[in-house]
Amino acid sequence: MLSRPEILLQVAEIKAMTPRVSAYRLVSPHGERLPAWSAGAHLNFRLPSGRARCYSLCGDSASSAEYWVAVQREEHGEGGSLEVAETFARGVVVRADPPRNGFPLAADAKHQVLIAGGIGITPIVAMIHHLRRSKATYAVHVCARSLKEVAFRDLIQAEVAAGRAALHLDGNDPARRPDLAAMIGAPTDGTHVYACGPAGLLKAFARATESWPRERVHVEGFAPEARQSEGDRPFDVTIASTGKTIHVPAGTTLLAALKAAGHDIATSCRQGICGSCMVPYSDGEPDHRDQALSDDERREFLTVCCSRARSPGLTLDL
Ligand code: FES
Repeated sequence: MLSRPEILLQVAEIKAMTPRVSAYRLVSPHGERLPAWSAGAHLNFRLPSGRARCYSLCGDSASSAEYWVAVQREEHGEGGSLEVAETFARGVVVRADPPRNGFPLAADAKHQVLIAGGIGITPIVAMIHHLRRSKATYAVHVCARSLKEVAFRDLIQAEVAAGRAALHLDGNDPARRPDLAAMIGAPTDGTHVYACGPAGLLKAFARATESWPRERVHVEGFAPEARQSEGDRPFDVTIASTGKTIHVPAGTTLLAALKAAGHDIATSCRQGICGSCMVPYSDGEPDHRDQALSDDERREFLTVCCSRARSPGLTLDL
């Protein structure tokens, strides 16, 4: 069976980016090179409490000596960001899965339009570092309530000064929300568009890109749950170790059905991005809906937060 390797990272530096966002520089505790990654990738951290949380890498992917992640404190979230703030002290060693990328830049793009909302700026920052070295042209749009809430302000303001970025500050006034359709424009050959941010921004982005070819529209969000779609069919899963069968109705995620039956599966993104919830299966045909697993991994695992079954039944090796 494929293993799930883990890497150890030492917190080398902490920087306050905004009143709520801190950036962490992470290095190998043994001074080794870190696994390679590409812009748009994230790390899935295994926190001391047992929670898993994924955060986009926001440094320069050309460096194999360090990773950067930035985390926004969510006082009313599920506790992951607060745990990071409390436990990621300088010198502390933390555990993570190796980087995965479900939001990569298109290698063949001639022009890239990058839209960031709030803390969704993190993968966009890594993309900017990469694109500064590339031949493709790019335009960045950063949406935030106020300048003081813009993380990586120096980098973004340098991009604004260079004519490659625009800041859209709405003061939290819905009437001043930016016009995404105007930012994006009509589809042109070789242009790819990307958005990362909260659900409201992604909804507006989906409307603004309705006429775009799907393969040129790229999204990463942080919605609380993976969406199920209307055409979903019910199916049954059998738990290999007990022989017990669990019914998964249409409109219910496999994760929710497993949880209701007493199976506690570690999750992080719950959107098929991080791979935290991968579970081995041995029978049946999964309907893989994640962006996390490789083709090899999909032969043995499925992500239960978002994936379903094409076959009437599926056996999980739990
Ligand atoms: S929890 Fe992230 S892929 Fe399922």
